[in-house]
Amino acid sequence: MEALGGLERGQLLLIAVGVALLGYIYTILSSPLARIPGPWYTLWTETILKYKVVTGQRPQWVHSLHEKYGTVVRISPKEVSIQDQNAVQQIYQVKGEFLKSPFYEIFLPGIKSIFNTTDVNFHRRHRRLLASEMSESGLALHRPTVETKVRMAIEGMAEEMEKRGATDVCRWALYMATDVIGELSFGSSFRMLETKEENQYTRDLKTIAFAGGLRSTFPFLMKITRYVPLPVLSTGMRIRDRMRGYATQSLARHYKLVEEQGQDAKHTLLSKLYRASEDDQDTLPFDELCEDAMAYIAAGSDTTTNTLTYLIWTLCKRPDVKAKLLAELSTLPDGFTDLDLKKLPYLDHVIQETLRLYSAAPSGLPRVVPQGGATLAGHYIPGGYTVSAQAYSVHRNPAVYPEPLKFDPSRWENPTRAMKDAFVPFGGGSRICIGLHLAKMELRLATARFFTRFPNATVSHLEGFTDEDMVPAMFFLMGPKSQRCLIDAH
Ligand code: HEM
Repeated sequence: MEALGGLERGQLLLIAVGVALLGYIYTILSSPLARIPGPWYTLWTETILKYKVVTGQRPQWVHSLHEKYGTVVRISPKEVSIQDQNAVQQIYQVKGEFLKSPFYEIFLPGIKSIFNTTDVNFHRRHRRLLASEMSESGLALHRPTVETKVRMAIEGMAEEMEKRGATDVCRWALYMATDVIGELSFGSSFRMLETKEENQYTRDLKTIAFAGGLRSTFPFLMKITRYVPLPVLSTGMRIRDRMRGYATQSLARHYKLVEEQGQDAKHTLLSKLYRASEDDQDTLPFDELCEDAMAYIAAGSDTTTNTLTYLIWTLCKRPDVKAKLLAELSTLPDGFTDLDLKKLPYLDHVIQETLRLYSAAPSGLPRVVPQGGATLAGHYIPGGYTVSAQAYSVHRNPAVYPEPLKFDPSRWENPTRAMKDAFVPFGGGSRICIGLHLAKMELRLATARFFTRFPNATVSHLEGFTDEDMVPAMFFLMGPKSQRCLIDAH
């Protein structure tokens, strides 16, 4: 082997590797995130973050880092989490300078909807067209549908109670929420409340957020699946295709009805936007509407289900809170409607407190820092890095919510500015949940109907049900790890 300047080839190779390694170490140590507090390993690798995501522990882990390192914490070489209400307002602002990160596109690949698009103009157009039907006044027309589905769910619970000795409120809440959003989007529901059975559709709904989270966490695996089948990820793709199938068939059916019956066809959240001609800017093409409908179904089922489930379970464990709510509900007229419920402050506080402690989307909603960077909670973060303020942590900040782990609806009697600013169960700014008024209507009606019908409800211990079943599994969405909640609705 020929020597070069007295050095063997092996030695040269070692020097090259050493120089490359030093270069790498220098790059990492001089990263702008090196100055951000956080465990040393988060400067070097995303591995721990990814592990926490796939094991459903990301929010708790990030929260433990906030408890140790403070308001601003580095959670990966490219990502920072912030537990501060002013930063919340900066990141999730209406002007929307902090755009949704590419995480969302990978979350639902091959789909571009109001939920997952990162394209500002596409989003603005869809949001403008979809918003009026989802506003409080727009929803007035859909109130009777929601009321009917809620009543059916309560009847289903009573029936199950008779037969089984307990009712699984998680199951009924899912049937209610899926039938509500199905009927409001397509003019016909998936008839879960009638068939009273799990089907492929509800199983898909339960898995879609998990599979999406997995894809976004391991984007490179998506590339591998083209060559090597990875069951979890290909299941996710199959679910996406099935969801597209449901949406396409259901929407096409209703489209046809509208063509045939015109104004007489059942009005839905989307029917005003059916496109008759290509140049009509106040409507949307079929494919785009279909993908928005998929977003409605995926975003509007599990979220409402889990919020309602935790609300009922918590009140069954807290007789003092339940008694106060019952006293308020006793003032309602017979045959009350949602309009009566909107006037009840304690009901509203119970819902707020559930959304605070059991946020259905507890994880960071990742946003990209705009060009030029931003100073968040006193720390400068350059453009291009990812930031988020996760609901799980901002809702547990003791400086904002004293005794944060206590379920205390009365804290909402006179909320401080900081409490309002830190409250993000529905996200914030231009990407705030478009379904929040619908969700609140469902929660008000279902809570009031449940507790007026079953005032003595308690947590059941049938079939070995314990608090352990309700320990939250926290993927992109959160819900009871056993996906059941047995209540003795006597
Ligand atoms: C308690 C129930 C609900 C909770 C906690 C909830 C939570 C959220 C959150 C946190 C976001 C922001 C996501 C982000 O920035 O990444 C969001 C967005 C969204 N939600 Fe909800 N949601 C609920 C119910 C619903 C319902 C019933 C619908 C039905 C239409 C819905 C449809 C959507 C859509 C389409 C978006 C995307 C909005 C946009 O980007 O403009 N959600 N939701």
